[in-house]
Amino acid sequence: MKLSKRLQSIYDMVPSGVTADVGSDHGKLIISLFENGVITKGYAIENKQGPYNRLVKAINSHGVQNNVIPMLSDGISELPTDVDTVVIAGMGGFNVIEILKKHPGKLKNVSTIIVDAHNAVPELRRQVSKMGFVIADEDMVFEAGIYYEIIKFIRGEAIYLDDPDIEFGPILRNEKSVTFKAKYNSRIEEIDKLLKKENIPNEKIKKLNMEKERIRTIL
Ligand SMILES: C[S@@+](CC[C@H](N)C(=O)[O-])C[C@H]1O[C@@H](n2cnc3c(N)ncnc32)[C@H](O)[C@@H]1O
Repeated sequence: MKLSKRLQSIYDMVPSGVTADVGSDHGKLIISLFENGVITKGYAIENKQGPYNRLVKAINSHGVQNNVIPMLSDGISELPTDVDTVVIAGMGGFNVIEILKKHPGKLKNVSTIIVDAHNAVPELRRQVSKMGFVIADEDMVFEAGIYYEIIKFIRGEAIYLDDPDIEFGPILRNEKSVTFKAKYNSRIEEIDKLLKKENIPNEKIKKLNMEKERIRTIL
């Protein structure tokens, strides 16, 4: 099964063991992980009937139903105890945070959390870091006009993250990949365009200039 660039990046971060894909939808990621022998067992979790039905169909059509188990449940509320890796991808950052915070006890046996959120990524770094996990890997991919940030957390002693680490990612800002530079250079261009517009409130001008300065500092 061919994965998108974004899903491939998540796939590449998954360790061997038992993975739960929360918000599995089409099931492509978890099915590929099992079919290629990366994981020995997978759980595909969906909280909506429509995507769940689609998921069951995909699992059955790949003949992996003995090892990729579909679950109709909310987030990690019924996370099986043999899960060591949780993937939550393709959702808003606050939804991801809520899913993780709602049932902290369910993460007891979990040693890896991989997230790919549409937004609120800095908040996600801050919150997951407070749950006993540290950032072990980060990747940025550009696909269909969108930049995605994929973060791998592993269980560990808290490491201090300063404000630029939270905003730009400790690993991403250190590596400064071509994609990372392209994203922030294009944001600077966007800010310059906004600043040229007439009638922007002073407060907004100040905010945009501060953002530009923060980007310049890390680029
Ligand atoms: C946009 S899809 C992303 C699918 C896939 N994870 C990906 O990254 O391509 C988001 C999926 O998450 C599911 N979802 C949202 N909130 C959820 C929750 N609390 N528990 C389980 N699934 C959830 C939605 O039903 C939807 O199918």
